[in-house]
Order: sequence, then C-alpha cells, then structure tokens
Amino acid sequence: MTTIETAPAAADERADAPVLEALHVTKHFTARGQLFKRGPKRVVHAADDVSLALHAGRIMALVGESGSGKSTFARLLAQLHPVTSGEIRYRGATVTVRGGKSLREHVSRVQLILQDPFGSFNPVATIARTLTRAVRIHHPKASAKEQLRIIDDLLGQVSLRPARQFTEKYPHELSGGQLQRLSIARALAASPDVFLADEPVSSLDVSIRLGVLNLLRRLVEERGVALLYVTHDIASARYFAEDTSVMYAGQLVEAGPSETVTQHAAHPYTQLLIASAPDPSRAEEAAPRDIGQPPSLIDPPSGCRFHPRCPFATERCATDAPPVFDLEDGQWAKCWLYADDAEAAGKRAENAVAYGLGEVRQAGRRRDAAAGPATTTPTPGRAAAPADAPTPNTEGVPQ
Ligand SMILES: Nc1ncnc2c1ncn2[C@@H]1O[C@H](COP(=O)(O)OP(=O)(O)OP(=O)(O)O)[C@@H](O)[C@H]1O
Ligand code: SF4
Ligand SMILES: [Mg+2]
Repeated sequence: MTTIETAPAAADERADAPVLEALHVTKHFTARGQLFKRGPKRVVHAADDVSLALHAGRIMALVGESGSGKSTFARLLAQLHPVTSGEIRYRGATVTVRGGKSLREHVSRVQLILQDPFGSFNPVATIARTLTRAVRIHHPKASAKEQLRIIDDLLGQVSLRPARQFTEKYPHELSGGQLQRLSIARALAASPDVFLADEPVSSLDVSIRLGVLNLLRRLVEERGVALLYVTHDIASARYFAEDTSVMYAGQLVEAGPSETVTQHAAHPYTQLLIASAPDPSRAEEAAPRDIGQPPSLIDPPSGCRFHPRCPFATERCATDAPPVFDLEDGQWAKCWLYADDAEAAGKRAENAVAYGLGEVRQAGRRRDAAAGPATTTPTPGRAAAPADAPTPNTEGVPQ
C-alpha cells in the first residue's frame, strides 16, 4: 500500500511545490556475480544522495554519459526499484510502494516512457488490444463503447489519425516514431501527472526526433504534466527543458536553468560534455573531444568522483567531496573551484582560459548542509531555439 508518512499542510496547493521529488536518494545494487558469494558484498553505487524536484508544466533534463545512473534514478522515481536510502515524495507525501495495488497507484500518476518503443509492445497484439488493456486498467468502469472512444481520443492526442488506420495494425507495421507516439498514448491512458522519459528519442531517426519532442512539449504545456527528460544530449536539453541537472558517476554535480547550465556551465564535467557535443548554435563546430572514461561505480574515486579526469583538480579534490556551491540565477555546482580561497581563485582563472570564458567566475556561496538538499528552483522560461535549429512544425505528422 502507499504509505503517507508526511503530508505538509497544503503543500500541493503551492504553485511552486514539486509534484514529484527525490530527497537524498541513494541506490546501491549488489554487484553482478556477488549475490551468492561469501564475504563482504561489493555494491554498485548507481545513485548517491540525489535530490531533484519535478514541477507541473515544466521539463527537467537529466544529462550524463552512459552508466552515470540516469535510468536507475528514473526507475527509482517510478518506484520500480526500492531506494537504499532517502525518500521519494509525491505532492509532499512520502511514497513507499510495497506491492501490486500501491504500485498501480503510483504508476497511474508517474509514467515511464522508455527508449526502445519496439521492445515495450507485445508483438502479437494489435494496437487496439494493447490500448484496450491500458484503458481497462485505468478506466475499469468504462463500457466497451467508452473504451473505444478513449482509444480514439488517445491516438488523436499523439497525432496518430485517423485512429482506425492504426488500431488493427501490429507493432512491426508502425515506424519507430509512430511506436514512440503509441507508447506516449498508452502512458496517457493513466492520466499521469508526471512523465519520466528515458532517452525517448535516441533510438529514433534524427529526422523524426523533433516531432516526438514537440509532442511531449505540447503535453507538458496543455496538460500541465511534469516531465523528466533523460538524455545523453546536453545540446537538446537547452532547447527542450527549462531546467537541467547533470549526473556524473551516480551523483548530481550541477543544476540550474538550462540556458545557464548549457551556456555558462560551471562544473568541469559539464564543460567537457558541452565541448564534446554538437550544437547548431555554435558558429565553429569543435572537434569531438575525448573526454576519457567514467569511473567504476563499484569502487568510485574518493573526494570528487570526477577528480581523476579533471584538469583543474587539486589535492583537496582527491580527498574531500565538494559541497554545493550556489552560483547566480539558481545555478549550483558541487565543485571546489567555487570555494572562496586563493587556490580556487587560481583554478577558476585557469578554467576561464581553458574554456575561453570572457571573465573569471566569482566564488559561490557554500550551501550549509542544514539548508536542505540541492534541487533546482523553478525559474521562468527556456531558451528559444536558434534560428538555424529545425522549426517545430513536424509534430502533427506521424512518422
Ligand atoms: N539491476 C542492476 N544490478 C546491478 N547493477 C545495475 C543494475 N541496474 C543498473 N546497474 C548499474 O548501475 C549503473 C548505472 O546504470 P544506468 O543504467 O542507470 O546508467 P545510465 O546513465 O542510464 O546509462 P545509459 O546512458 O547507458 O542508459 C551501471 O553501472 C549499471 O551497470
Ligand atoms: S571538485 Fe575538483 S576535481 Fe572535482 S570537478 Fe571541481 S575542480 Fe575538478
Ligand atoms: Mg539509461
């Protein structure tokens, strides 16, 4: 059952209150091959002390390279894995899923959209059958006629029209883009408040990605759902998401408004990600950089986990985990570069030269651990797409 342990009075009535949030969430898996071994178990530190808040009508991008723990974190929010420690809150109340009914309840509020739409459908069931099953689960009292109407409506909402052209088809008869729209329609059957989209377009042809992203954006704006957009592609975060959080080796290292994080990245890892990502708004395309290999999550580096790869690391970075430093405009970074001392100032100057920054950044305000977890604060707006970015005119065309 869903246990409501804390429900701050009128918490969900505040416009800026998160719909779904993770507070200090940690997930350690027993390392593969260790389950039946004697002696101390080795664990994979897939998520460590991650706090993040999702707000109605807003998109949060979660960016990081392969193996950084993005999918694990999305699955923790979806309650498909139990947390090792920390808590997940839905509208201010702690959610603890312990079985079928409570999982169904959480799933109807929080829907996961996966990267591979082909793998998420029964290949021998028609679209009508797949959607009927979803509609029955979430609208058990609907008559057969009402179910058909709901299915028509769901397909219309994802621009698969006319519905009858799709209902009798099998998954293999649809394109990747159409299947991803279908998985969004299936998710909509639950009338969720939150979508967790785990690399929703990375398996699709580049030409049809924009249409699916525009569809998700429209659903966020029209239905006020909160969306977590998990991606490797930090450039897409700038144009698609209001806020961006950057994950490295199971930990969040930087977050803030997407425009600030992508245009004025503070953490050396984010800076490396951006320097190695293609971006249509950059006049001169930098050659992709070799950004090295991520560390083992079984035995992650001490201090700052990025220190073995960081060109600005100091001795302290190898021993002491950096705290949160608040910067300007709601941006924060866990990085010793923003400490208020001479050594950090010298390293910030080196950083400015290395990345051609116009000026050396200021020290940040070290956040007191008692001030609560580092989550992003909603700020209005998101970046406009650059003039040469593809215009969002493909959404109505099922591809
Ligand atoms: N069930 C599991 N048991 C053990 N280890 C796991 C399990 N699921 C994930 N991991 C490990 O947790 C770490 C994070 O994996 P995760 O899939 O969350 O990363 P990711 O950022 O989503 O990567 P990608 O971008 O490749 O999808 C990896 O080291 C992975 O091997
Ligand atoms: S804390 Fe140190 S090692 Fe880590 S990113 Fe900052 S400068 Fe680099
Ligand atoms: Mg993943």
